[in-house]
Amino acid sequence: MRVLVTGGAGFIGANFVHRTIATRPDAQVRVLDAMTYAANAASLAPVAGQIELIEGDITDTALVDRLVADTDIVVHFAAESHNDNSLADPSAFVHTNLVGTFSLLEAVRKHDVRYHHISTDEVYGDLALDDPARFTEATAYNPSSPYSATKAGSDLLVRAWVRSFGVQATISNCSNNYGPYQHIEKFIPRQITNVLAGIRPKLYGHGTNVRDWIHVHDHNDAVWTIIDKGTIGETYLIGADGEVDNRTVIETILELTGQPTDAFDFVTDRPGHDLRYAIDSHRLRTELGWQPHYTDFRSGLADTIDWYRNNPDWWQPLKNHVENKYSTTEKVIN
Ligand code: NAD
Ligand code: DAU
Repeated sequence: MRVLVTGGAGFIGANFVHRTIATRPDAQVRVLDAMTYAANAASLAPVAGQIELIEGDITDTALVDRLVADTDIVVHFAAESHNDNSLADPSAFVHTNLVGTFSLLEAVRKHDVRYHHISTDEVYGDLALDDPARFTEATAYNPSSPYSATKAGSDLLVRAWVRSFGVQATISNCSNNYGPYQHIEKFIPRQITNVLAGIRPKLYGHGTNVRDWIHVHDHNDAVWTIIDKGTIGETYLIGADGEVDNRTVIETILELTGQPTDAFDFVTDRPGHDLRYAIDSHRLRTELGWQPHYTDFRSGLADTIDWYRNNPDWWQPLKNHVENKYSTTEKVIN
């Protein structure tokens, strides 16, 4: 099977490529990645020689057309993925998440190629802390940030291309991922590398916001399950019952690294900050038989801390730039 992975040099895409090479001997993997600030060629080093990396933009229609013509399936991870960046400047989000998805859809339509669209639970907006409800496939779209609005728009393009043109597509909407190779602008790796670099972790607002954490390997196993067994045209929610508030996440990182659990700073909150995400993945579990394996968040977090501790060459060159950028907007409010 010829597999074209867009965004395969980013966090989830690189982990997907590793797992595909390890578990699918029949797969010939090509990665299409623009190698933006979020990509890291070193993330693909463990599979060097076993894949082809093409540096290019998913909005380059001639390139996309040529690559899609020569593949059996497109798995579309490429995106601008960070909410804080979308608040500072949304333009790249519209370009990549909307125009890029359009470009891929036109190519898979023309060449009648199978397509799997990677999306996020943020398309559903947020939930109150005390709301017993969780997101399901039937929840109405209600995105809050420029990032989540462009992801919601991209999902709707996929649905329209399925219905109007018969494109052979599936969609998955997953909750917050953690694990190796995640860019250190994101919450968990930012705080782990803060502790490792002797910087106090930074908690937005009061830290009561809740995210539904899933290990990246569980996400990627679910993606293959949907590709193998999912129904064309359908959407599947991916989640591992991992709801934790942000303050608890920081306190657990501090505890696991042998620091006092109050050794962090409260900083200015994110504008429009979504309060809580929570996924009901009943459909994926009952219809397609998927189950998460990393069900102990604390032990998954400990493994992730070990990964960053053991791979300083991967993240240290990024650290000053990321923290300098945050320091232009972030104020300590202890
Ligand atoms: P990431 O930012 O780590 O990686 C994105 C990759 O896409 C990078 O390698 C980047 O270079 C590439 N890219 C960006 N613009 C491109 C373009 N125009 N052309 C080609 N490549 C381009 O992102 P991630 O966290 O790995 O997320 C991957 C996907 O999963 C995204 O679609 C995101 O919306 C979705 N998602 C992420 C999470 C999460 O918790 N991180 C959860 C659910 C869904
Ligand atoms: O829900 C899925 C989404 O999860 C994905 O679609 C996004 O691509 C991914 O980035 C993630 O979005 P979040 O905005 O939830 O993730 P982030 O890591 O930026 O922040 C997680 C929570 O931690 C959020 O409530 C904001 C908070 N936070 C974040 C940072 C960077 C802090 O308190 N301090 C920080 O320094």
